[in-house]
Amino acid sequence: MSKNIFAIPGSLRAGSSNHSILKIIGDMIPGSINYQIYDGLSSIPPFDPGLDNDTPPQPITDLRNLITNADAIIICTPEYAYGVPGQLKNAIDWMVSSGSFSGKLTALITASTGGENAHTALLKILGAVDAVVPAEVTLLISYIRSKMNAEGMVTDKETAEGIRRVVNALQHYSGSSAPAE
Ligand SMILES: Cc1cc2nc3c(=O)[nH]c(=O)nc-3n(C[C@H](O)[C@H](O)[C@H](O)COP(=O)(O)O)c2cc1C
Repeated sequence: MSKNIFAIPGSLRAGSSNHSILKIIGDMIPGSINYQIYDGLSSIPPFDPGLDNDTPPQPITDLRNLITNADAIIICTPEYAYGVPGQLKNAIDWMVSSGSFSGKLTALITASTGGENAHTALLKILGAVDAVVPAEVTLLISYIRSKMNAEGMVTDKETAEGIRRVVNALQHYSGSSAPAE
């Protein structure tokens, strides 16, 4: 059966550099792997423990299923106000009780102006939901706007190599052998 890689962008911005990185990754991943970029983050309601029961809002059920059915997850996000973007943290909060991330191979790319705070916080958060995050599938890209052109292509060689390294390691850990194209 072909592998599924599910990518979650932390930015809702049209033309987001984090979306562009996830598109670049889609071009690197062999066609034999199903690769889906999540576009439902804005439809996730604010986390309410009172609604976190057997019948949560439909977007929550959908996201839980997408994560559960994935062989690997890629989160690619900016930092806002020295932290994790609220909409991304909110979505992960809904995943705590379902255990959707538990044991799930998860890559983390933080592409931001600085990004260290969100990156560090997300590593902790992913630990809290029991995701598996090997160091080789993590990447902090600071000054992202200066490393990408207007067409959303990465122009910085080291950054391009870092993204390729993450994709190759993710495929290695998920048991899909072919290196990134
Ligand atoms: C409201 C706001 C707050 C921000 N705060 C930070 C910050 O604390 N640290 C940082 O590294 N970048 C910060 N940034 C810059 C973003 O990380 C940067 O614009 C990034 O490119 C956004 O990602 P995107 O291109 O995927 O939308 C902030 C941007 C906005 C709009």
